[in-house]
Amino acid sequence: MSSSKASPWRCRPLGAEDAPRCAALHRVSFSNSWSINEFEGLLASAPVIADGAEGARNVSGFVLSRRASDEAEILTIAVHPALRGQGMAGTMLGYHMSRLARAGVGDLFLEVDESNAPALALYRRYGFIKVGQRTGYYARADGQRATALVLRCTV
Ligand SMILES: CC(C)(COP(=O)(O)OP(=O)(O)OC[C@H]1O[C@@H](n2cnc3c(N)ncnc32)[C@H](O)[C@@H]1OP(=O)(O)O)[C@@H](O)C(=O)NCCC(=O)NCCS
Repeated sequence: MSSSKASPWRCRPLGAEDAPRCAALHRVSFSNSWSINEFEGLLASAPVIADGAEGARNVSGFVLSRRASDEAEILTIAVHPALRGQGMAGTMLGYHMSRLARAGVGDLFLEVDESNAPALALYRRYGFIKVGQRTGYYARADGQRATALVLRCTV
């Protein structure tokens, strides 16, 4: 998605050396944290395409997708809580989708909690549409179950 204003965020591909930073960002973004080892494995895995965004200093947002043939699925995306609402995820997702397109990906899928308003706004902006629903898919901290929406967009 293009913008007339230059983005303050710099995007770049992530590698296994970024695993500690990704694990730290994941821990402050989700209730089920992924370990440094898990990130190292993912970031070193050939089918995984991973990008990060950095502001003045280190990586403050990441997005990881796993590719299978001409499709891919977003495994996780997050921005540091202190930097949310400033367009970082939008910039990062645009960069990521361009890389996926160059790698030959045609369709991109993801799952999102139906109550996650910021994520839904982000995905809507990039043209994702609902293609499925998994009732009670997520376990919430309060013991309730939440519905996952399955979204797809053409990259
Ligand atoms: C989802 C997330 C990655 C968005 O990151 P971000 O950098 O704040 O996103 P952006 O600033 O680019 O904004 C994306 C959209 O969300 C909207 N938004 C931001 N905060 C919002 C809020 N609290 N409520 C509703 N919409 C909101 C923005 O207006 C923007 O919409 P627009 O493109 O129509 O203007 C971030 O909130 C996050 O890390 N959340 C925790 C992890 C998570 O839930 N990941 C998604 C799992 S599917």
